[in-house]
Amino acid sequence: MRASTSIVALATVASYAAAQTTSIASAATAALSLLSPNCQATILQLATNSSAAQCLHVDLLAGLVTSNGSLIPGVDNYLSTICSSAPCTNETLTNTTQTVLQACSSDLTNFGITNQTLEYAMELYPLAREVLCLKTSDPYTSANATMPMSANSTMSSNSTSSYNTTNGTFCATSLLTEFSSYLGTDLTTSYVTSVALGGNATALQTIESIPLSALCNECVFAALDLVEEELPFIGNISVMNTTLNGFLDGQCNSTNLTVSTNGTLPTNVTISAVNSTFTYNITAGNVTYAPNSTVLPAVAQAASSNSSALLAAATSLTSGNATSSLASAATSIVAGNSTAMKRRWIGEQ
Ligand SMILES: *[C@@H]1O[C@H](CO)[C@@H](O)[C@H](O)[C@H]1NC(C)=O
Ligand SMILES: *[C@@H]1O[C@H](CO)[C@@H](O)[C@H](O)[C@H]1NC(C)=O
Ligand SMILES: *[C@@H]1O[C@H](CO)[C@@H](O)[C@H](O)[C@H]1NC(C)=O
Ligand SMILES: *[C@@H]1O[C@H](CO)[C@@H](O)[C@H](O)[C@H]1NC(C)=O
Ligand SMILES: *[C@@H]1O[C@H](CO)[C@@H](O)[C@H](O)[C@H]1NC(C)=O
Ligand SMILES: *[C@@H]1O[C@H](CO)[C@@H](O)[C@H](O)[C@H]1NC(C)=O
Ligand SMILES: *[C@@H]1O[C@H](CO)[C@@H](O)[C@H](O)[C@H]1NC(C)=O
Ligand SMILES: *[C@@H]1O[C@H](CO)[C@@H](O)[C@H](O)[C@H]1NC(C)=O
Ligand SMILES: *[C@@H]1O[C@H](CO)[C@@H](O)[C@H](O)[C@H]1NC(C)=O
Ligand SMILES: *[C@@H]1O[C@H](CO)[C@@H](O)[C@H](O)[C@H]1NC(C)=O
Ligand SMILES: *[C@@H]1O[C@H](CO)[C@@H](O)[C@H](O)[C@H]1NC(C)=O
Ligand SMILES: *[C@@H]1O[C@H](CO)[C@@H](O)[C@H](O)[C@H]1NC(C)=O
Repeated sequence: MRASTSIVALATVASYAAAQTTSIASAATAALSLLSPNCQATILQLATNSSAAQCLHVDLLAGLVTSNGSLIPGVDNYLSTICSSAPCTNETLTNTTQTVLQACSSDLTNFGITNQTLEYAMELYPLAREVLCLKTSDPYTSANATMPMSANSTMSSNSTSSYNTTNGTFCATSLLTEFSSYLGTDLTTSYVTSVALGGNATALQTIESIPLSALCNECVFAALDLVEEELPFIGNISVMNTTLNGFLDGQCNSTNLTVSTNGTLPTNVTISAVNSTFTYNITAGNVTYAPNSTVLPAVAQAASSNSSALLAAATSLTSGNATSSLASAATSIVAGNSTAMKRRWIGEQ
């Protein structure tokens, strides 16, 4: 199964990060070393010296993952930058995609990633930026939580803060702070890595015990509103005998939250991405923002015509097959069987 292959490969990279080093720099080196030389060189060049690196502000991201403290202030700063500076142009995105397709053709085949999958994924950039730049005037607050740096002062509007609070707090900052509070700890790079690799059973139990009502959050609904505007089929994915939208609307029926699929955001949420390239209307409060361009990306056209390939790709990600591959990958990692993992990655078995 294609999706499973990619997940196994990703888990392999993660296993290098976990088993051989705690340093992100050497984990990145380990990940790169699994790629063909030509692909490696191209990725390095794209990440360090390209118009894509500039518009994605890769330098800030690199600084973020190498910091020691909570990731949240760095994420907030990163969002301030990408939301207020020029977005990646369509030309940069398509050029980058073609460059990767050419240099990493055999690597992508081994991953089970088709040209079209990568092209679709890159087309989701305007949506991703729009979602990341959502802001809320009603951010998460908690008196008793273990807060990341400055969060206690940030979340009250009357004090100084190291977070961006111009026209609201970033939804991502608010949600990450809430998550951090449930876990009772700062979200540092090493903590997030260890939890993601299943290395902290306590944390996994805590995550499972988070009530579903935590989903009844304006920021969560706002993000979904935008995602479903471009990819309506997401709302029809089955969740517990119903659709995702039916499930959320039911879970949250004691609030006024319902999933809109026309870009109408919940009361306290606004947009902040400058020069947005998202191609749909967005309504925040009583203002409707029209898109700067209405040329729909191919992925949106495929979604609106209910392309079975797109649906199958999305479904396979949530299928039991992918999950069990992940579990078996994790088991191999725990058993230290990284040679076998590497062989699977490079397609020898
Ligand atoms: C805060 O974020 C907004 C976007 O919401 C941006 O326009 C502004 O420049 C940012 N302010 C700072 C100080 O980074
Ligand atoms: C695409 O990227 C390559 C390598 O960075 C560059 O040489 C080329 O001019 C770019 N093409 C366009 C159309 O931007
Ligand atoms: C994928 O893209 C590469 C680079 O443009 C090309 O050489 C290759 O033929 C494409 N594969 C398919 C199946 O279209
Ligand atoms: C805050 O403390 C109260 C009472 O001690 C507890 O019930 C609640 O779960 C705590 N909230 C969080 C987010 O940990
Ligand atoms: C905010 O958190 C810092 C660090 O935990 C603490 O020193 C400070 O007293 C807190 N401020 C308030 C107002 O709670
Ligand atoms: C900030 O606002 C809170 C209530 O929102 C209030 O309790 C607190 O005294 C205020 N602090 C300052 C320094 O004004
Ligand atoms: C804040 O919101 C106001 C009103 O919507 C808008 O005019 C202003 O440009 C926004 N500021 C930033 C930095 O986005
Ligand atoms: C595991 O997670 C718990 C809960 O988030 C945290 O308190 C603890 O410090 C973590 N343990 C390690 C070794 O990181
Ligand atoms: C889903 O449907 C099955 C069979 O109809 C039922 O046994 C189960 O309880 C339902 N689950 C939920 C979460 O409603
Ligand atoms: C919300 O849904 C639950 C389960 O379907 C139902 O029992 C409850 O009455 C509903 N509450 C409201 C306010 O509609
Ligand atoms: C839900 O909406 C009604 C009418 O618009 C309003 O009176 C009520 O306060 C809202 N409830 C919540 C929890 O926002
Ligand atoms: C982006 O550029 C490509 C190639 O020039 C073009 O086919 C496509 O329609 C453009 N997409 C958007 C959303 O403008």
